Amino acid sequence: MTTPKTRITAGILAGLLLAGCFTGCFFRKGENDKDPDTPITITDTPEEDPAGTLTPIVTPENPDDPASPADDPAQPTDPVTPIDPVDLPTPVVPDPGTAGASDTPADTADTQADTPAEDGGTHVTGIRLDKYIVAVQVGKSDMPIVTMLPSTALDVGEIWTSDDTAVASVSTYGKITGVAPGECKVTVRSTDNPDVKAVVDVMVVEDQDVIHVKQISLDKYETTIQVGLMDMPWVTMYPTNAGDKGEIWTSDDTAVATVDKYGRILGVGPGTCTVTVRSQDNQDVTAKVTVNVKIAEVVKEPTYIDGTLIVNRTYALPKTYNPGVSAEAKAALDQLIAGASEDGLEFWVESGFRSYDQQLNLYNTYVGREGKDAADRYSARPGHSEHQSGLAFDLNSFDDNFDTTPEGKWLAAHAWEYGFTLRYPKDKEDITGFMYEPWHVRFVGKELAQKLHDSGQVLEEYFDITSVYAD
Ligand code: DAL
Ligand code: ZN
Repeated sequence: MTTPKTRITAGILAGLLLAGCFTGCFFRKGENDKDPDTPITITDTPEEDPAGTLTPIVTPENPDDPASPADDPAQPTDPVTPIDPVDLPTPVVPDPGTAGASDTPADTADTQADTPAEDGGTHVTGIRLDKYIVAVQVGKSDMPIVTMLPSTALDVGEIWTSDDTAVASVSTYGKITGVAPGECKVTVRSTDNPDVKAVVDVMVVEDQDVIHVKQISLDKYETTIQVGLMDMPWVTMYPTNAGDKGEIWTSDDTAVATVDKYGRILGVGPGTCTVTVRSQDNQDVTAKVTVNVKIAEVVKEPTYIDGTLIVNRTYALPKTYNPGVSAEAKAALDQLIAGASEDGLEFWVESGFRSYDQQLNLYNTYVGREGKDAADRYSARPGHSEHQSGLAFDLNSFDDNFDTTPEGKWLAAHAWEYGFTLRYPKDKEDITGFMYEPWHVRFVGKELAQKLHDSGQVLEEYFDITSVYAD
């Protein structure tokens, strides 16, 4: 990780869910000032409208684009109801070293082609830093983390210089130390190729002074969501050691999308609007997200192929499809549990049937925790979950390591004998559309289950179909 964003482990998440999320809590990801352990709900009372206190603002990323009037504190109109903790994988947190467009300044020469060195290795063609803005108090130090690119470069030596050593000095290792209040630039060059450099803007303040926010970086500056669904951009405030990293979020058209004080954007109606985040500490510093909201395609009928119900990213169930748990699948599961019991193993259902609305709330909960891109990898959008079919069960544990337990191993070896397939195997995310879930079984009947087991195929491969969202 190249910034202090929190990578939340599955264990911590599971603990938090069990501790508090039966009441439908959210917590905000990231390094922001909010306490991640503090349960929050999307129905929170909005903060006071900051619009009246703000003057027109120019974003660092887009200096020509004045901020839109913040006319609404943006509270979602469709409260998210409590949900059970289900399908919880290891969360994925974007790497700020590569995620944010503004994380990498234009003068970082990391786009050149790899240059072969005479000895068969490669030369340095770019330098990436974990931060390009550093603020220190007089006498204090900070040290950006350097990555020489490409990773195959032979000589990764660094040459550090400060353009004003009366303001900040820099050691041969890149340790920047405040000398006197002011601003300067510190540059790191490659010893292998001194034309390749990266520049750090350094601010030095008095040793008692608070460090203020100077820039906001997001993991995305545009998003497309459906009406009723959410996204939440990932925020990094620079310098990362700023004293107050509070955020103020506003939407310029709440008929299109609302945003709450945690940056959770909710699609309300079709159209495009701009969501702005301001630094609470320095309200001249903003970042903007263009939000496109679309109406989801109405699905009228479920899709069957050769008698098998297909539910994935491509094939959705109608909103009204609400069969409850399939009696046939439940009977097969009971047999599986009995068979495992004979081997001394115990299985239980963590999550079975989920209605469209339950899936909607669940999905939005995960988006509100980690953002849409991460949530899409492990939580199906409403209509796209096999749990809505009544044919799928999550057994025992939402831990990737479930496959190393006796029960996980047994399930992988024997589920097919009872008519189940492990729907989201390892290394097939690009085919199924979802991350590895050793706990998720789908009833397909014994005949098809055996074919899938024997061939090692998933439903998408067997039927030669896709699993891709339309947008
Ligand atoms: N976790 C699976 C993909 C679901 O949400 O249905
Ligand atoms: Zn599942």
